[in-house]
Amino acid sequence: MNRKISVAPMMDCTDKHERYFLRLISKNVLLYTEMIVSEAIDRGDKKKLLSFNVKEKPVALQIGGSSPKLLSNASKLGEEFGYDEINLNLGCPSKKVQKNRFGACLLKEPKLVAECLSEMQSKTKIPVTVKTRIGYDDIEDYDNLSNLISLFKTTGVKTFIIHARKAMLGKFTPKQNLNIPPLKYGMVYKLKEEFKDLEIIINGGITTIDEIKNHLNKVDGVMIGRSIYHSPYMLADIENNIFNNTNVPSREEVIKELVIYLKKEIKKGTRMNQIMRHTLGLFHGQTGSSFWKRYLSENMCVRNADVQKIDHIMDKVKFAPQAHSVG
Ligand SMILES: Cc1cc2nc3c(=O)[nH]c(=O)nc-3n(C[C@H](O)[C@H](O)[C@H](O)COP(=O)(O)O)c2cc1C
Repeated sequence: MNRKISVAPMMDCTDKHERYFLRLISKNVLLYTEMIVSEAIDRGDKKKLLSFNVKEKPVALQIGGSSPKLLSNASKLGEEFGYDEINLNLGCPSKKVQKNRFGACLLKEPKLVAECLSEMQSKTKIPVTVKTRIGYDDIEDYDNLSNLISLFKTTGVKTFIIHARKAMLGKFTPKQNLNIPPLKYGMVYKLKEEFKDLEIIINGGITTIDEIKNHLNKVDGVMIGRSIYHSPYMLADIENNIFNNTNVPSREEVIKELVIYLKKEIKKGTRMNQIMRHTLGLFHGQTGSSFWKRYLSENMCVRNADVQKIDHIMDKVKFAPQAHSVG
């Protein structure tokens, strides 16, 4: 599987509608789901939680949890639903997550994690990967990270996504935990030097093509979260510059395709804003992008008016690029 560039799992962001939208722009990136907790998969509506459109593929399912049994069951189900990879979340630092014993707090229990990873791999043939941070609280030395990866490697996991910041458990809000601990890319590069046989993907604070290219000289892949969510057409630059794909659809072509999907989804009961909210940043950086944002903000939440509004979206798109000169 090609993990050169991937879009990070993000709660409330990378749902199936966002992934469908991003896939219209990029053929080559790997997409991740939001984290889904193994207990929820066990008890909840499996179809609702796990079903997705095959056009989104390749897609990795990210799960959270600490029960080897529930995680391995969830992995098996993920494979049955057609996901291409199962990823275990060992990076989320939120208090709620800690209370339920999953995410970054599991870095304190590496043996349990290794047990989970072994069980997960015994139930599925698709790759099981790990997303983690470089450390937590005061534990942020390279040796600790290296020991952790060595242990997880013994279970057969070959791909590690490393968010190059430590997690501050219980101290910071989730937002602070995404911004305050400093990025230490050097530790991720060192991991790749030490574990040449492992696939090491770097994550955290990466925003430009030049940065991506520099990282790709040191590690196997780059995962990007917020900058793609806020500016999804960045994927077009990635297709051009990283995958040499010169056949990327324009923003207008993307919206045209998305409207076809939107109409089908609305018939199934999806609300217009569940899809269109993800496109707010599509014209990011273009003069006139505020038109698009304003138009969507004013129209996509209108109750019972969804279907009638769809064709107006197309009208808006037609003039959106001309909005360059309007400001
Ligand atoms: C809104 C939001 C939700 C997130 N949800 C998850 C999640 O469900 N699972 C996960 O592993 N990381 C989650 N993250 C962290 C991202 O995957 C990523 O590691 C982090 O944003 C750093 O990458 P970036 O600087 O490119 O955004 C989330 C981040 C944001 C901003």
